[in-house]
Amino acid sequence: MGFISSTEQLVKRFDTLKTMENSGITLINRPDAMFVARDKFSSLVRLKNSGIPVPETAVVESPFEAMRLAETWKEVVIKPLMGSLGLGAVRVTDPDIAFRVAKSILSVNQPVYIQKYVRKPERDIRVFVVGDKVIGSIYRINKASWKTNVAQGALTQVTLPDKYLEEIAIKSTSVLGLDYAGLDVVEDLDGGYKVLEVNAAPLWKGFYQATNINPAKYIIQHLIQKLKK
Ligand SMILES: Nc1ncnc2c1ncn2[C@@H]1O[C@H](COP(=O)(O)OP(=O)(O)O)[C@@H](O)[C@H]1O
Ligand SMILES: [Mg+2]
Repeated sequence: MGFISSTEQLVKRFDTLKTMENSGITLINRPDAMFVARDKFSSLVRLKNSGIPVPETAVVESPFEAMRLAETWKEVVIKPLMGSLGLGAVRVTDPDIAFRVAKSILSVNQPVYIQKYVRKPERDIRVFVVGDKVIGSIYRINKASWKTNVAQGALTQVTLPDKYLEEIAIKSTSVLGLDYAGLDVVEDLDGGYKVLEVNAAPLWKGFYQATNINPAKYIIQHLIQKLKK
């Protein structure tokens, strides 16, 4: 669906894809699933309801609520509800700053997506799932910033997911009805994994450079299998 800058644009692109799908064309990822995945909060709610570990997260429309959450959670991340590349996410410890940030977001009529900051190593894990298989995973390491997006300067390194992470990744992808996905997962220093988001249109330059695995090949195989069914 690309970069979206207005509701009309989102609705128009979604309608176009739905019309294609309704006319019998097989699309991957399916538009309904992409729509949900685009909304970070809506997708985390679905994951949580399926028993997948996610950070404490809220959407609020009051700066007082944002301030209260910053007080309760001590350190929070306020990020665009529908965003990517780490752009526009801020990490806040001061409740007054949370208040001001929330106020400015609300002044442009956007909801405030706020999440507990998860203490983690200087990296996160990008897990790439196609169909019901993990095709590979990488660490995204950033010593200069808490944002571990490749677009924010993170370096990549191959890693093998353990059984549990593999299970989390495959289940998250299927809960959201996605054919393929790139999950962002942090290793919580206080224990366990936490899924930050499930990307329905993940970039894979960094993944490809680190693993030499080309997701396109797996996505096409998956599509062919789906068409045969
Ligand atoms: N709650 C959090 N705790 C710790 N780090 C976070 C948190 N939220 C985001 N980050 C960091 O910021 C990066 C970008 O956040 P993410 O939720 O994946 O949004 P985006 O769509 O911008 O990639 C993550 O890869 C992670 O490194
Ligand atoms: Mg991300």
